[in-house]
Amino acid sequence: MSETYRATAREIARKHLDSGDPLGWFEDLYLQAGENVSIIPWADLEPNPNLIDWLNRTGTTGPGRALKVGSGLGDDAEELSRRGFETTAFDISETAITWSRDRFPQSSVSYIVADLFSAPMEWKDTFNFVLESYTLQVLPINLRAAAVHSITSFVAPGGTLLVITRGREPGDAEGRMPWPLTKDELLLFVAEGLTEVSFNDYMDSEDPPVRRFRVTYRQEY
Ligand SMILES: C[S@@+](CC[C@H](N)C(=O)[O-])C[C@H]1O[C@@H](n2cnc3c(N)ncnc32)[C@H](O)[C@@H]1O
Repeated sequence: MSETYRATAREIARKHLDSGDPLGWFEDLYLQAGENVSIIPWADLEPNPNLIDWLNRTGTTGPGRALKVGSGLGDDAEELSRRGFETTAFDISETAITWSRDRFPQSSVSYIVADLFSAPMEWKDTFNFVLESYTLQVLPINLRAAAVHSITSFVAPGGTLLVITRGREPGDAEGRMPWPLTKDELLLFVAEGLTEVSFNDYMDSEDPPVRRFRVTYRQEY
């Protein structure tokens, strides 16, 4: 995607962050995008290839209940639904959720406007498969522990959580949004009680390649 568009997104984010509103920029960005999807840096209008690769490698399918955290324009949620999960997808942006429903009018995915930090109580311990891809990396560091706590709470006993994020070494500069996570930050999921099942640290197939951490966790019975 063009650096001009990424710069626009960063500018909108910065304005909100500077005014002490770290979550307000998402709705603002989707609204400003209107029909112009290229202004949204993560909107590829196809399922995340890092997710597809993982699903194919592990043979993961439904049945079961799946939850997509920060569902954007819906492509990952639709993929989970196609693979047999009864899928719920939520995003803090009302515009993103309306957009997803409009893109997939026949969908059986339940698209819901919700904030990760005040999610419905009934989601606790409910989902057999939870997918977090690229939301943690757009949240400032001081919100990540609370985000990890909330994401963990959704996983049912015996269920799986898949996290896909940009990765960095602790000594690397945090850089500009999206801010890569360190392995220590991901250990917060283990501190919350999940068991780490696999940890992939690799360069993806983007041009230029991006370092990704793709981590699978299990919630023990
Ligand atoms: C970087 S985007 C990734 C979207 C999607 N996962 C994808 O890969 O296309 C992060 C998404 O999380 C949403 N989001 C950010 N903070 C959130 C929160 N507190 N609760 C729910 N959704 C949130 C944003 O609106 C945005 O759609």
